[in-house]
Amino acid sequence: MPPAARQLQIVAPEQKKLRPADVGASADFLLSMQEGGAAAVVGLPRTGKGWIVKVASQRMPRLVVFDPYGSRDRLESERGHEMFPWDGDLWSLRELLDHPDALDCSPMRIIVDPHLPRKKLGQAFSALATLCAKTGGPPGDPIWLVAEEASLYSRESTEAFLELTSGSAHHGVKPIIISQSIGMVTLYAMRHVTHIIALNQSADADFENLRKHCNSPSNDFAAAVAAWKPGDRPLHWRLGA
Ligand SMILES: Nc1ncnc2c1ncn2[C@@H]1O[C@H](COP(=O)(O)OP(=O)(O)OP(=O)(O)O)[C@@H](O)[C@H]1O
Ligand SMILES: [Mg+2]
Repeated sequence: MPPAARQLQIVAPEQKKLRPADVGASADFLLSMQEGGAAAVVGLPRTGKGWIVKVASQRMPRLVVFDPYGSRDRLESERGHEMFPWDGDLWSLRELLDHPDALDCSPMRIIVDPHLPRKKLGQAFSALATLCAKTGGPPGDPIWLVAEEASLYSRESTEAFLELTSGSAHHGVKPIIISQSIGMVTLYAMRHVTHIIALNQSADADFENLRKHCNSPSNDFAAAVAAWKPGDRPLHWRLGA
């Protein structure tokens, strides 16, 4: 008789996914952001952050994604894992620094995998942000710059985040910060974020950041995020709304 442990099957509960209509509504919300705005999309792993931004990106003529997992996700997807890697031309940061004119095109869709250890990611993101800000774009055709997995490097590139979010109208760049935890993105870097899409958060620091950045006497956004459960529609916050 096989040992009891062999008979045990650990079955993860089916995580409820976002509804495609809700993903579309959140994509529209992101795309409604004017020049001078900056967005953050936050939620725990597999909640659908990437899905929302990828759907929105289909309507972004000029897109640059900084994604430390860009190459890995493609590899895992080819191996059959249920991954949804960013599609577009995959560049290393070095290649892009050597050919910055590649950014000065429309349409343009570039995925930058820095191929660097974690402690160097902050420096790499800062270099890319500077390159995008130098390039910019004509009115109505900015560079949408997506910072994927920003909690991995936001502390080491706080100044770059601050400059991007505060000066986006000057730079012709619309930034989108994607992070599993809003508490891992310093409030200093968050200061000029005008649009937030939130799924669930778990740490005290996350709710503290949301309270400080989003709450007003008429909107307890932090409490709404604390009550969010899989299957709910993503929560939207806009500065001044
Ligand atoms: N393009 C897509 N089409 C259909 N379903 C998708 C798509 N992208 C993601 N999903 C679904 O949404 C789930 C969450 O995926 P997503 O990549 O958006 O997570 P995430 O919040 O970015 O997670 P992580 O923090 O781990 O990157 C996936 O498991 C998948 O079921
Ligand atoms: Mg993701």
